[in-house]
Amino acid sequence: PDLTLYLFLLLRVCVCVCVSLPWHVPCPGRCVCHIKPWFSPDSVYHEAPTVDCNDLLLTGLPWPLPFGTHTLHLQGNNLSEMDAGVLHGLPNLTDLDLSQNHFSHVRAIAQNLSLPSLLSLHLEENHLSHLPEASFSSLLALQELLLSHNNLCSIAPGAFTGLSSLLRLHINNNRLTTINPMWFGPLQNLEVLMLGGNPVETLPEQGFLALKSLRSLILGGMGLRGLADNALDGLEGLESLSFYDNLLIKVPSRALRRVKGLKFLDLNKNRIKVINTGDVRDMVHLKELGLNNMEELMSIERAALENLPELTKLEITNNPRLSFIHPQAFAQLSRLESLMLNSNCLSTLHHRTMSSLPRLQEVSLHSNPLRCDCLFHWAARDQRTSRVVRFIQPQATLCSEPPELKARRVREVSSGEMSASCLPTIPTASLPSNVGVREGGKLLLHCRALADPQPQLYWVTPSGDSPRWSQGDFATKRYWLLPEGTLEIRKVTPREAGLYTCIAENTLGADTRSVTVAVQRRQKTRRRAPASDLKGPSVLRVETSLKVMESGEHYAILSWQNRRNYPSTRLSWQAVSSDAPAYSTRILAGTHSFNLTHLQAGTFYRVCLHLGTSEGSKHNSKRSKASRKPQCISFRTKQVAEPRASLQLSPELTSTAATLLMILVLILMLLAGQGWDSGKHPSALFQEIKSHKSLVIMQKTHGSNKNQPKRSEKLLFHHDC
Ligand SMILES: *[C@@H]1O[C@H](CO)[C@@H](O)[C@H](O)[C@H]1NC(C)=O
Ligand SMILES: *[C@@H]1O[C@H](CO)[C@@H](O)[C@H](O)[C@H]1NC(C)=O
Ligand SMILES: *[C@@H]1O[C@H](CO)[C@@H](O)[C@H](O)[C@H]1NC(C)=O
Ligand SMILES: *[C@@H]1O[C@H](CO)[C@@H](O)[C@H](O)[C@H]1NC(C)=O
Repeated sequence: PDLTLYLFLLLRVCVCVCVSLPWHVPCPGRCVCHIKPWFSPDSVYHEAPTVDCNDLLLTGLPWPLPFGTHTLHLQGNNLSEMDAGVLHGLPNLTDLDLSQNHFSHVRAIAQNLSLPSLLSLHLEENHLSHLPEASFSSLLALQELLLSHNNLCSIAPGAFTGLSSLLRLHINNNRLTTINPMWFGPLQNLEVLMLGGNPVETLPEQGFLALKSLRSLILGGMGLRGLADNALDGLEGLESLSFYDNLLIKVPSRALRRVKGLKFLDLNKNRIKVINTGDVRDMVHLKELGLNNMEELMSIERAALENLPELTKLEITNNPRLSFIHPQAFAQLSRLESLMLNSNCLSTLHHRTMSSLPRLQEVSLHSNPLRCDCLFHWAARDQRTSRVVRFIQPQATLCSEPPELKARRVREVSSGEMSASCLPTIPTASLPSNVGVREGGKLLLHCRALADPQPQLYWVTPSGDSPRWSQGDFATKRYWLLPEGTLEIRKVTPREAGLYTCIAENTLGADTRSVTVAVQRRQKTRRRAPASDLKGPSVLRVETSLKVMESGEHYAILSWQNRRNYPSTRLSWQAVSSDAPAYSTRILAGTHSFNLTHLQAGTFYRVCLHLGTSEGSKHNSKRSKASRKPQCISFRTKQVAEPRASLQLSPELTSTAATLLMILVLILMLLAGQGWDSGKHPSALFQEIKSHKSLVIMQKTHGSNKNQPKRSEKLLFHHDC
């Protein structure tokens, strides 16, 4: 994902292991002074006089530093303040590494620091939570500013004032929830911007307009669900763009088409179900495209990728439900050389797909349930007539069907062994056996099949209605048949619940697959559908009151302020994924913080605080029932520490267990909570419920604002955190 970062780190590592010569100067105690190779942010080589004081638990700067110091490494110490005077006499100081220290205020670092030659400042893994106006304005030559893995939750609009030479800015893996276009105003020469790993749900419109020189933008691991059409406007020089690990539900094609120079696009690990016709079109400089690791991707439609004349490498791998690539999915990809399709759920790669790619040199199809029959003739041993397309890992590219060819290597089967025509099969992965939909919502049921002769697809509805899709006319207007066999049901009512069957038929026979649709009735209290949260500027508003104070792998501590103590406050939370269960708990009046436990690591959650609403209780006064808008925020739990091999051993199991425990605790809380609203309890209530294993839910009540814990005060200091 963060390829640039890896390369960058690799370069650094290399720099460190490459030859170093002794530097004969009086060196501060325990530090090492030597001459080392060094590359400037714009890749100019230097032999740099270096003072190395890493990992020495220093609480103050080493002193005196040699006059000619070019690079000063202070990584992994215990610095929280800096005596600017010590660095003053160093006219050649170019690279200052203060990463992994204890700085919590940027003023303690950069104020009064006049270092006219400083090009590179490392502040990763400190405790910075806010960048005030003109944070680095005395460092006018700065080309590289690295602020990743801090606790930044607010950055003043003019924080980067004066940094007009900056080439590289890393503010990834902080706690920013919004991106302010004002930040980028002074950064007209910026080339690399890393913003990933911040819980941002929406990019501002035209937010990057100032970044005319930007070449690489990394937006991985945020909470992006969609993109405004003009979100990427102005990025005239952008070549590389990563949306790795977001929540996009479709390709943001309109926004992308406005980035004319794009060469590398990474859409890996998103929630995209279908790559639709025209989704990736007319991007005339695109060289490489990644559509990997998408749990929900099931189909690539006709002309989904069209007119990409420079595309040479296309990777669509590790998509466990991807079972359909339309025979004409790729149109005008005249330069495509490498097509990676391994580890999907594909039964074949259609010969029309192959013939639409004149320059194809290699294809990777292993780890797919391949059907060695009619549609795969082109791959047979004796069919390599006109051109040679190399199979990657041919020894692992095996037939799964038909039974008599099972486990044979595709490239060793002769065309005589493959049947010339074949029955349609609807892949199991394309259609789940059960789906739920909210009343009034829209439902898309995707059914796909490849066969020779080409099959026809149609649906039978619960009422037995079965118009052939070629006729395209349903009796009731709720049903729509979309191309390639998708059934759309609009404005679902409970009457549409039931069993739907898809039928794929050709002259040889038919295959069917059924899905049960359950309709969830609309609730009395209006609940906003998650999708409506995406649109409009409302998402950009910063809801100041509810905050995440701290989050770990499996817990998060929330805090909020409410001026009046509403009698029945409720907290609800849910992992931001289509099928995650939602949890909810009552909160005592006067409570201002809550420790959410049993969260999943590395997962986006949305938490809402519902003030003064109490679902299900009938005898509420009218006043308290008047539901106020819930306050919601999103955050992401920490990733589990490396190594993360075999991470997902049994996610279903753990989530089921967690659900059961949660339900248990909710019941306990409801029982325990019967007296809670009566106000008898002292304000310093500390409620702890332990059930088996280590499930703990804690509520802490703080008295007046004066008694807030110290840490909270520190973090609450800035109003938009
Ligand atoms: C600073 O760097 C310049 C150019 O590399 C060099 O000529 C000068 O001697 C250096 N100054 C010190 C104090 O080492
Ligand atoms: C780091 O410094 C703080 C005070 O600034 C001190 O409390 C702490 O013990 C120090 N840690 C180490 C490992 O020396
Ligand atoms: C910066 O300099 C000003 C005046 O020169 C002084 O008042 C202030 O304390 C200094 N700040 C730091 C952090 O040293
Ligand atoms: C919150 O809960 C987690 C998990 O039970 C625990 O590790 C953490 O210490 C708790 N934090 C506070 C402040 O209670």
